[in-house]
Amino acid sequence: MTKVSIVGAGYVGAATAFAMVLRGTCSELVLVDKNEAKARAEAADISHATPISHATRVSAGSYADLSGAHLVVLTAGANQRPGESRLELLARNAAVFREMVPQVLGAAPEATLLIATNPVDVMTQLSAQLAGPERAARVFGSGTVLDTARLRALIAAQANVDPQHVHGYVLGEHGDSEVVAWSGVTIAGLGLEKFMDAAHKPWNAEVQAQTEHAVRHAAAEIIAVKGMTAYGIGAALARITEAVLRDRRSVLTVSAVHGRYGAALSLPRVVGGAGLLETLTLPLSAAEEAALERSAQVLREAGQQVL
Ligand code: LAC
Repeated sequence: MTKVSIVGAGYVGAATAFAMVLRGTCSELVLVDKNEAKARAEAADISHATPISHATRVSAGSYADLSGAHLVVLTAGANQRPGESRLELLARNAAVFREMVPQVLGAAPEATLLIATNPVDVMTQLSAQLAGPERAARVFGSGTVLDTARLRALIAAQANVDPQHVHGYVLGEHGDSEVVAWSGVTIAGLGLEKFMDAAHKPWNAEVQAQTEHAVRHAAAEIIAVKGMTAYGIGAALARITEAVLRDRRSVLTVSAVHGRYGAALSLPRVVGGAGLLETLTLPLSAAEEAALERSAQVLREAGQQVL
């Protein structure tokens, strides 16, 4: 039996629950929301997909029903309005977290906490602070896992290959200062430019810049039209959850506090049953290192407002 709870049954929480049922992430899923009727309606709707996808006991409950959860996903809080940055959500969502996280920690003392609420890096650092150093390995955020997925999808489209064969990372803030580590991108074991050249695919500085812009502004462009994003982050949260529940030791750019940077930010980390197992050090270019330090500075300054 594997039990997951999602606190927050809004767009992201519901999409995450649906992704988990379609993927068979866990055997029990409990949705918690201050709007109990909403949580019940989402749980009922999603449970109707279980006979067609994976047997998952989906229900709605209160904090007391988090008991025994192996992992709790935190999605509660305000989400970006069109034109609003993730960092502008900081004060509102820090207040939500100061009230929510102690209740979650008390109800599910053994659970891994997976933070999704934006600004996810600062919310992760606040959650880690509230949880205490003994739970450090079990408190982390979705970080740039979704941004890394967006990068891989766009490069795969240019290369006309399965995204599974594209490897690369977006680092730092899940936000405007994020860093694409172009120097480390590979396709089928070849460096990016070597692959594109060998496959006679169009790739140059302009295409690279366009790709990076598309990754960095993906959420804002979607939010401007439909008011939020949900499916991409829902799939990313389900994938991260599986790395923990199945002890997959996946390398994922989750967000966690890092002493050298004095903030929670995304780096490639090995994620398994015990949570964060290892943080990997990438060979970055000097420009990438400088950009990562600037991103860390953005997060340090944001953190000073609420930590
Ligand atoms: C996005 C939200 C999850 O990037 O921040 O879609």
